[in-house]
Amino acid sequence: MRFAVLASGNGSNFEAIAIAWEQKQIPGELALVFANHPEAYVLERAAQHQIPHFSFTVKESGGKEAYEKALLHLLQEQKIDFVILAGYLRILGKEIIEAFPERILNIHPSLLPSFPGLHGIQDAFNYGVKVTGVTVHFVDCGLDTGPIIAQEVVAISPEDTLETLEAKIHQVEHQLYPRIIGECLEKENHS
Ligand code: GRF
Repeated sequence: MRFAVLASGNGSNFEAIAIAWEQKQIPGELALVFANHPEAYVLERAAQHQIPHFSFTVKESGGKEAYEKALLHLLQEQKIDFVILAGYLRILGKEIIEAFPERILNIHPSLLPSFPGLHGIQDAFNYGVKVTGVTVHFVDCGLDTGPIIAQEVVAISPEDTLETLEAKIHQVEHQLYPRIIGECLEKENHS
């Protein structure tokens, strides 16, 4: 079982996944990291963990369709069985989704279906909800839709600022995502 992490930016979730994998809490092979931006910090983290890493942009590929094709080609060429989105700020194309049925996971920093989109933490904070959280789900063709696998609640206290809430959410993400990835890959191994 070879799995890939797709990300666009900082990569703190990748880091948590890489550590859990190095500690054998996640089975299989963390085979590659892909970023759709050459300056994404996740690529540096991948290098530090000695994980093969790749990047190209939509522009370099000559448009969205060619980009999706090149990404699918990379995943197939590298014999990837399972795909983990970790702060990947693009909607995956249909072809990639269909190539990995129920084998693509995403993490979102809210209790879906509330507050989908790019600003899940801020939107929940601004709305004034008293609880928010983290969702791990299978990816389908929608934006932050797809069958939910796990959720964890994070309370918002009156003292919280956006920054303290972000820190709480990320802390939960870094525990929850590696655990759920481990469970999913374990299941795949036995199926
Ligand atoms: C996380 O909050 C994740 O839930 C969302 O994007 C953010 C990525 O953060 N999908 P990082 O790049 O892993 O630090």
